[in-house]
Amino acid sequence: MKHGAPAGRSTPAIEFDDVSLRFISADGNATVALRNFSMSVARGEFVAIVGPTGCGKSTTLNMITGLLKPTVGSVRVMGQPVTGIDPRIGFVFQADAVFPWRSVEDNVAAGPLFRGKAKPEAMALAQEWIHRVGLSRFGKHYPHQLSGGMRKRVALAQTFINNPEILLMDEPFSALDMQTRTLMQDELLQLWSGNGGSVVFVTHDLEEAIALADRVFVLSARPATLKRVYDVDLPRPRVMSEVRYDPQFIDLSKQIWDELRQEVVLA
Ligand SMILES: Nc1ncnc2c1ncn2[C@@H]1O[C@H](COP(=O)(O)OP(=O)(O)O)[C@@H](O)[C@H]1O
Ligand SMILES: [Mg+2]
Repeated sequence: MKHGAPAGRSTPAIEFDDVSLRFISADGNATVALRNFSMSVARGEFVAIVGPTGCGKSTTLNMITGLLKPTVGSVRVMGQPVTGIDPRIGFVFQADAVFPWRSVEDNVAAGPLFRGKAKPEAMALAQEWIHRVGLSRFGKHYPHQLSGGMRKRVALAQTFINNPEILLMDEPFSALDMQTRTLMQDELLQLWSGNGGSVVFVTHDLEEAIALADRVFVLSARPATLKRVYDVDLPRPRVMSEVRYDPQFIDLSKQIWDELRQEVVLA
């Protein structure tokens, strides 16, 4: 794929430079959703953003996709200002983005087909990815015949099949039960380690953020400002069911939680 001129491997995948965003509602009231926010995400880096509900996490992702424009400051993707939907970006949201009227294999093949791959090739590639996420026996099933966890697997296959250089995730697993959630987090880390892209993972779940990410960006209550960035030095590969008992993990969650607690109270 062709990149913009200055975008060598050393160019950050994503850069927020002193970004503020203010919404003006129909009745003329202003809501500041984000204030003086700066963040740089390296190629291949896994970053998590945590903060209380309503602080501006989704707003941040929407500026990476170009859905929202900063009121002040700039957002760059691969060294270029965001102009519109970028085919190098993949998304997984909390709500299922699968087409309910399409079978699993047609859902997973949708991306490659849309990008102009011939049908037989797209279907073969889809089979590979369906297998990779453990749904080999369910290719002909429809989404309503699957559990919530299985639909998430479809969503992951559907996203990773396009080999995104940037993956944006907005509370993707929050509707799942604990066990399924843990499995999906492992699945995600496995897929990501084979993909090598950058991830921005938004969650209100601090432990999820620490367990998954290289760095955790903690936002304050609205208007969100960046309170602090924490490095997570836990070794990889990580196994979700084990990482939670790592003393380093426990230390870090206590430390961040102390910081976050004040914000949750304020929100
Ligand atoms: N299109 C919009 N118009 C006005 N206000 C908005 C709009 N989108 C979000 N907001 C407000 O901005 C704040 C941040 O929203 P959001 O980024 O969705 O929070 P989070 O994802 O952290 O829960 C909230 O107070 C929300 O009500
Ligand atoms: Mg949100």
